[in-house]
Amino acid sequence: MTDVVSKVLISEEEIARTVDRLAGEINRDYEGKEIVLVGLLKGSFVFMGDLMRRLTMPCIIDFMIVSSYGGRTFSSGEVNIKKDLGESIEGKNVIIVEDIIDSGITLSAVMEILKKRNPASLRLCSFLSKPARRVKEVKIDYLGTEIPDEFVIGYGLDYDEKYRNIPCVGILDPKYID
Ligand code: IMP
Ligand code: MG
Repeated sequence: MTDVVSKVLISEEEIARTVDRLAGEINRDYEGKEIVLVGLLKGSFVFMGDLMRRLTMPCIIDFMIVSSYGGRTFSSGEVNIKKDLGESIEGKNVIIVEDIIDSGITLSAVMEILKKRNPASLRLCSFLSKPARRVKEVKIDYLGTEIPDEFVIGYGLDYDEKYRNIPCVGILDPKYID
């Protein structure tokens, strides 16, 4: 299946090192505090599973589904909540966990929505960022790796709902884009 990857951008070993570093930063900043990790489904679930097992404080795990790509490789600019959080985040230390920040449209909308619910703090942790594609400025408090403007798959990231199970992050061979 990895023949769909024309180039490996981040190997499994590099992924592990990156997640270690991010978990270290979060453990340092939130020592002795309880946090809520809010994963944006589906892309973030692989990263979130790795990250949370390296965190040393009590963690509450919650998820949202917001609209995004659905088969295409560009952002629609529309954001709607398909599944909301299960619990209130009022007074909680919240970290949004994302797979990738591309245009930033999804994240800035989600940030605004969650801010209105009065969390004690709200930060963003993203495994990947494509700064060249940014339309909306987003502050990424915990960033894994910046990547060039290429469509990537694997480690939770999909093309048309496929290839999330590839263990590394790679560039999708254009011949598989339809
Ligand atoms: P944004 O609103 O443009 O920042 O969109 C972010 C979302 O788009 C991510 O959560 C991904 O689901 C999706 N996305 C952006 N770039 C890629 C990519 O290279 N591969 C797979 N999904 C992507
Ligand atoms: Mg996503």
